[in-house]
Amino acid sequence: MKLAVFASGSGSNFQAVADAAAENRIDAGIAVLVCDKPDACVVERAEAMNIPVFSFRPKNYENKAAFEQEIVEELQKKEVDLIVLAGYMRLVGDTLLTAFQKRMINIHPSLLPAFPGLNAVEQAWEAGVKVTGVTVHEVDQGMDSGTIIAQEAVAVKPSDSLASLTKAVQAVEHRLYPDTIQFLLRERLSQGGAMHQ
Ligand code: GAR
Repeated sequence: MKLAVFASGSGSNFQAVADAAAENRIDAGIAVLVCDKPDACVVERAEAMNIPVFSFRPKNYENKAAFEQEIVEELQKKEVDLIVLAGYMRLVGDTLLTAFQKRMINIHPSLLPAFPGLNAVEQAWEAGVKVTGVTVHEVDQGMDSGTIIAQEAVAVKPSDSLASLTKAVQAVEHRLYPDTIQFLLRERLSQGGAMHQ
């Protein structure tokens, strides 16, 4: 099985998935990192692991459909089965959604549908909730919407700061994402073979 991981920033979730693949904790390899910010740290992480990178600057294209069409061609060439969004800070458009229907997942640092969008841990902290967490979900047209696949709660402790809560949420992300990817790969394999059409 082949994954494409999409990321825009530091890439700690990319790293968690790449490590899981390298250690055979998931039955898949990362065929390509797709990154909309060529200077992001995640690009260095991929290069250090000899994972191919497809990076681009959206402003160099006429519109979203134009760069997404290039991405689709690249992913089809590499026979990618599943797209894994890992801090890809951009709404996915119809071109990608149509080509990878039901084959695209995202991770978000809250218990959706609470706190979608940017800075979800901070949103939860500001709201004063006593429990937050992590969600893995299918991707649709919306912002952090789509069918929920997995969730794990993180308690907000009286001794927590925003920094310690962020660390606790990230630790859950780095375990939950590889585990959920492996669950999906196993489930779909048992339903009859390759996920790509
Ligand atoms: C992660 O916490 C991820 O869940 C979040 O961006 C962070 C990326 O960190 N995604 C969203 O908020 C999606 N709405 P990373 O670059 O270290 O993996």
